[in-house]
Amino acid sequence: MKQLPTLAAGVLLTFAAATAIGGTVVEALLAGYRGAGASAFDATRGKALYNGTFPGEKPSEVRQCTTCHGVDPNKPGLHPRTGKTIAPLSPGANPARLQNPDEVEKWFQRNCTWTLGRPCTPQEKGDFLTYLQGL
Ligand code: HEC
Repeated sequence: MKQLPTLAAGVLLTFAAATAIGGTVVEALLAGYRGAGASAFDATRGKALYNGTFPGEKPSEVRQCTTCHGVDPNKPGLHPRTGKTIAPLSPGANPARLQNPDEVEKWFQRNCTWTLGRPCTPQEKGDFLTYLQGL
């Protein structure tokens, strides 16, 4: 049984090494979403999520990803509450994007919960990253 933790650590190290070699962070995330049950990813669905409107707490309130990130992910957004500029979401316009899997998951968790009222599914996350990568 002592072998098992060693094996798990080995797998994690392999994952870390693979993601450290340029450009494969999104691929590793997509592989994880597939492993969690997602099927083929679709940029059109990702775009629809980005532009979708969801009810807020008040009947008059509408929540969208674009509320903070702006209608064009190639351009900077603006946080409505803090007034801070948010750098473009697309990796094409902003090479610093989607480089750290923990950051991506942290913000998905926070932003999906605020916008949709629930976490995004692995399918939604994969569709969205596929959309961003194609921009
Ligand atoms: C209330 C404002 C707000 C809304 C709405 C919002 N976001 Fe964000 N988002 C942020 C902030 C702030 C950051 C972190 C700052 C940054 O990365 O520039 C961020 C970061 C991200 C990141 C991390 C990118 C990376 O490089 O790691 C992703 C992915 C993301 N958002 C996706 C979404 C999606 C999908 C939606 C809609 C379901 C959404 N966001 C809605 C504010 C928001």
